[in-house]
Amino acid sequence: MTGTCVVTGAASGIGRATVELLAGAGWHVIAADRDQAGLDRLLAEASGGVSAITTVLLDVTDEEAIRNLADRCRGAEVPIRALVNSAGVGANTRFFETTVEQMRRIYDINVVGTFALSQALAPIMRENGGGSIVHSASVSGIKGNLGRSAYGASKGAVVTLTKIMAVELADDRIRVNAIAPGPIETPMVKETHTPATREEWHRTVPLRRYGTPEEVAAAIAFLVDERQSSYVTGQVLAVDGGFTAAGLMSV
Ligand SMILES: NC(=O)c1ccc[n+]([C@@H]2O[C@H](COP(=O)([O-])OP(=O)(O)OC[C@H]3O[C@@H](n4cnc5c(N)ncnc54)[C@H](O)[C@@H]3O)[C@@H](O)[C@H]2O)c1
Repeated sequence: MTGTCVVTGAASGIGRATVELLAGAGWHVIAADRDQAGLDRLLAEASGGVSAITTVLLDVTDEEAIRNLADRCRGAEVPIRALVNSAGVGANTRFFETTVEQMRRIYDINVVGTFALSQALAPIMRENGGGSIVHSASVSGIKGNLGRSAYGASKGAVVTLTKIMAVELADDRIRVNAIAPGPIETPMVKETHTPATREEWHRTVPLRRYGTPEEVAAAIAFLVDERQSSYVTGQVLAVDGGFTAAGLMSV
C-alpha cells in the first residue's frame, strides 16, 4: 500500500535517493529540506516519477514551518502513510574540542527535529489508519567512533527514540524503525571525511568500500513498505557493509 510519504533532508544524499526511489515506486512524496537550490536540483534531475514529487522548503528546527507542513498533510488528497526523517548534520570533532554550542546545534537538528516532525505527523497517520516512520540513526550512534561526541550521542538518542516510539505508537498501527548507515558516499561525508578517515573505514568495513545513497534508500523503502516489513518495528537496521558486526579484522 502506498500513499503520501514525507521525506526530510530530501535535497541531498540519502534523502534525495529515497525520494527518487519512492516516487518511482508509486508514492506521492513531499520532499522537504532547508536547501531550496538543492530541492530545485532534485526536481530538475530526478530520474522518474517527478510528477509525484512536491517540494517544501522546511527547516526541521522551525516549529511553525512543521505545523504548516502538518496542516498541508492533513488535507492531502492522497493520505499520508509514511515519514522518513533523513535531515541531519554531522561533525568530526574530538571530545575536548566539541563545544556546547555545537552539541546543542547537532541535537537540535538530529534529535529534536526528528522528534518534532514525528510528533506533528503521527496523529495524521493515526487518523489515516496507521503508517511507517523511519529515522536516520548511524553506526556512530551504536559504536564509540572517534570524534563523534556530538554526532554519535545525537544518533544514540535517535536509536532510543526509535524504540520508545515503536512501543508507544504500536496501538496506533504506526511502525517506527531506524536505519544506521555506515560510511555512505554523500555530500555530508565529502565534507567530514579526511583521507585518513577514508583509509580507516576501508580497513574496518568488511565489504571494504563506502556504501551508496541508493543502497540505504533501498533499506528505507523496505521499512516504509507495509507489504514487506509489516511485522518489523522498533528495529535499527545497520546498512554498513558489516562494520557493526565486525571484530578482529586480521590476525
Ligand atoms: N552519509 C553517511 O555516511 C551517513 C552515515 C550515517 C548516518 N547518516 C545520516 O543520514 C542522514 C542523511 O545524511 P546524508 O549523508 O544524506 O547527508 P547530506 O548532507 O547529503 O544531506 C542531508 C540533508 O539534510 C538537510 N538538512 C540539514 N539540516 C537541516 C534542517 N535543519 N532542516 C531541514 N533540512 C536539513 C541538508 O540541507 C541536506 O539536504 C543524516 O541524518 C545523517 O546523519 C549519514
